[in-house]
Amino acid sequence: METPCGSNAGDCKENNRNTMIKLIISCFLNRIMSVFTSKAYDKLRSLIFPFGKILDEIPNKGKVLDVGCGHGTLPLYIAKNKRNVFVVGVEISNKRVLVAKEKVKCFGNVKFFNCNFIEFKGNEKFDTITCLDVLHHMSRSLHEKVIKKVSELLKPNGIFILVEIDRHPFPKYLCSRMHDLMMTKSTDFNLIRKGVAIKMLESYGFGVNSIKDASSAMYGRYMIIAKKLKRG
Ligand SMILES: C[S@@+](CC[C@H](N)C(=O)[O-])C[C@H]1O[C@@H](n2cnc3c(N)ncnc32)[C@H](O)[C@@H]1O
Repeated sequence: METPCGSNAGDCKENNRNTMIKLIISCFLNRIMSVFTSKAYDKLRSLIFPFGKILDEIPNKGKVLDVGCGHGTLPLYIAKNKRNVFVVGVEISNKRVLVAKEKVKCFGNVKFFNCNFIEFKGNEKFDTITCLDVLHHMSRSLHEKVIKKVSELLKPNGIFILVEIDRHPFPKYLCSRMHDLMMTKSTDFNLIRKGVAIKMLESYGFGVNSIKDASSAMYGRYMIIAKKLKRG
């Protein structure tokens, strides 16, 4: 009998089975490749960005949330180096969260959520919130919404660590821009200047504890460490 495949029923079944097997193998290989590429990315990322500078600012216990955690590089780095800290990573890209979840298997102190940070609904508050290289990927109108959300999710006296691209020194700024262009293949870039970030933080009840240079050999970054002040 003719079938939709244009051949007999036995051939059609065989074709369907072969297609299914090919699909399963290709999904499996894709997952392995993305985890492998992501592990290479983790190594590269820790070379271009000194994660240790962020780690130094995080207390040895408590809860940390990382905004826009990508493949989970920073949450996993914190979880590995601070075993008494529980880390939550929030990431809008489903693909990235899947890769992060693959890597999390050997850690009991990390969890990832796939959602827009602005819409993140957690019923817990955090001791520390980190936001590394995320704001310049968002529209300017969202910068303030992120700071507001961070303020809502932090415990009183909680710490917010914001790391962003610095315009100074200019050669390092150029390297950062080039890097971004290559990685994202997009010219969408909304730098938040240090002064603007500080004013925004102060308007949402933060006191700026310190501003540090978090640059590496090639890339320029500023790091603002701000405390959520208790409001009277
Ligand atoms: C340059 S990557 C930085 C990733 C990670 N923080 C790191 O330093 O390795 C910026 C990340 O922010 C994520 N992102 C952008 N907008 C977001 C949003 N509204 N909510 C959650 N994640 C977001 C992007 O999907 C991307 O993974």
